[in-house]
Amino acid sequence: MSAAGNKPRVAVLISGSGSNLQSLIDAAHAPNYPAEIALVLSNVATAYGIERANKAGIPVKVISHNDFADRSSFEAALAASLAEFKIEYVCLAGFMRILTADFVRLWAGRMLNIHPSLLPAFKGRNVHAQALAAGVTISGCTVHLVTPELDDGPIIVQAAVPVLPDDDEAHLAKRILAEEHRIYPQALAWLASGRINVADDDKTAQARARLGSLINPPV
Ligand code: GAR
Repeated sequence: MSAAGNKPRVAVLISGSGSNLQSLIDAAHAPNYPAEIALVLSNVATAYGIERANKAGIPVKVISHNDFADRSSFEAALAASLAEFKIEYVCLAGFMRILTADFVRLWAGRMLNIHPSLLPAFKGRNVHAQALAAGVTISGCTVHLVTPELDDGPIIVQAAVPVLPDDDEAHLAKRILAEEHRIYPQALAWLASGRINVADDDKTAQARARLGSLINPPV
């Protein structure tokens, strides 16, 4: 088995451009990076991130939410692919679907998200517009463990970015994105090398007991 084959296997879930995916792919090329990007899952067939994955020789699965009657059957398909590819960690990288509490709890402590604000400020969509409207002088980005509440969960790392007097959404987004590309590979490296541990709460423990056999390796 190659050295890369021994590393924890990571799936990156995308819906769009995939520039954060690219930063993870680039970081994982380093021989001493502690994780392998083993699967890219997109819920959008035209997402540019798929091309990035193809170029890097990473398997891609397109699972469109539109093909499923409800969130849980969509997530069952996601779970099946994650199990098929023996995925141990999941990175949400511009994945614009809300996941159910059961799915999130199943991956508790193993699923990261990146969000383009200094959480807990400015959750949800139109984040940069929210920051500009609020008149903050500093914004930034956050990598956090995913918990059932949207854009919540234990914060792993943040980067601050000044808001300039003549900023618009596009300029602010661009400067924040550059910081996202710096902190996401760092956060994944910490997680995949076992440096981040969070105890399960009761509901998470119950969800694992009910559904844990669905993921591989089982919990
Ligand atoms: C990134 O800015 C990411 O933080 C944001 O979507 C963008 C995806 O860009 N995610 C969210 O807003 C999630 N709440 P990318 O596809 O180029 O990585």
